[in-house]
Amino acid sequence: MRRWPHQSDRTQTEVSMSLIDDARAVRENAYAPYSKFKVGAAIRSASGTIYTGCNVENVAYPEGTCAEAGAIAAMIAGGDTRIAEVAVIADSPKPVSPCGGCRQKIAEFADGDVAVTLATMDGIVQHTTVADLLPGSFDADYMSRV
Ligand code: THU
Repeated sequence: MRRWPHQSDRTQTEVSMSLIDDARAVRENAYAPYSKFKVGAAIRSASGTIYTGCNVENVAYPEGTCAEAGAIAAMIAGGDTRIAEVAVIADSPKPVSPCGGCRQKIAEFADGDVAVTLATMDGIVQHTTVADLLPGSFDADYMSRV
């Protein structure tokens, strides 16, 4: 967890690239002996705190967890509940794409216009949003008759 006091003095590009740096750093800690595919994720919360996560695999393959899920768990454990920005990085030929489950997990804590930066280790960056990643998402409004 890292606090960032000067965010308002920075451009959006600087903010995104710093978050990618955090994701790149935590990716080194990924536990991925089965896929060999290390992923790092970083979240800037609404309070300005940075939370990071990496994928943690398991010999019982379905028990593995994604980097994004780890960062979200760290955010909730840290007492924050709203995501202001997300960055994800992997050593992929094109910017790594969060899985469907992680898109839903991110949407639980983020507005649709929240910026998501996806990156490769060799510097290709794609900027998108939570709404673009998960169009037509299921949300609490659908349960308003319950
Ligand atoms: N993975 C992530 O952690 N995040 C993503 O966005 C894509 C996939 C992990 C899950 C698994 O440990 C490995 O990458 C290969 O699928």
